[in-house]
Amino acid sequence: MTEIAPSPDWTIPQDWAHYSPTDHRVWDHLFDRQTRLLPGRVAPEFLDGLKRLDLTRPGVPDFARLNDQLVALTGWQVVAVPGLVPDAVFFDHLANRRFPAGNFIRRPDQLDYLQEPDVFHDVFGHVPLLAHPAFADYMQAYGQGGLRALEYNAIARLSRLYWYTVEFGLIRGRDGLAIYGAGIVSSHGETHFALDSASPNRLGWRLDRVLQTPYRIDDFQQNYFVIDSFDQLLKVTLETDFGPLYQRLADAPDIPIATILPDDPVFTRGDQSHVATSRQPACHHPN
Ligand SMILES: [Fe+2]
Repeated sequence: MTEIAPSPDWTIPQDWAHYSPTDHRVWDHLFDRQTRLLPGRVAPEFLDGLKRLDLTRPGVPDFARLNDQLVALTGWQVVAVPGLVPDAVFFDHLANRRFPAGNFIRRPDQLDYLQEPDVFHDVFGHVPLLAHPAFADYMQAYGQGGLRALEYNAIARLSRLYWYTVEFGLIRGRDGLAIYGAGIVSSHGETHFALDSASPNRLGWRLDRVLQTPYRIDDFQQNYFVIDSFDQLLKVTLETDFGPLYQRLADAPDIPIATILPDDPVFTRGDQSHVATSRQPACHHPN
């Protein structure tokens, strides 16, 4: 994490002119690679967001221009930050419909592995769904929930909800499962793995179940959780009283990461073969 806060809310000017030709080429390369792969694999709402936000223009997006369209669609905007920001700052931004995006892009030799989220992960991965009304409302509700979780000392538990939805979520589509989590959508390797691999479990999403499930930050996921719809995600999150839930779960043991419970809806029962054979780096971060 960057140690010096540049301003109270950690935002900095994007200074679009500072991106080099190499920076823009890296964006274009990653963009082309992912957009060739995504149709038929990603939730259609994501592709719709890319189009409606004019993100198909070449080069690193200019946030001012992007925000003109995003604000008009859902009232969200993207703000530039130097890297990961403190939890309270992150939640406050989300609660006010601002998405903090890393203001740097990976080097050409880092296309498949990065420790901190860059502008490709943050903007390509996260922003298209912010153009979707239900998902936009969910992200704000998550930010508001995060601010409350600070009072309950429950950030570690709540972060599992973000991880298994916003970053690594799957959704039921008309033709089977589809990806929507930004950690998958912005990763070439995990876009394949999350849908095609025999290794991970793919289980029905239940809020309290997810809050009890640890996750991996150093490899592809061992579990993916499948929502029925963005409306379901929003409705359950808004209707859940998290205070009593945190208290109920406080003494409950975590569910070991690859375990399938008798009442889990099972889409695929993973053989966990990837865990046994490989340590594939991926683009992951805790926010
Ligand atoms: Fe992310």
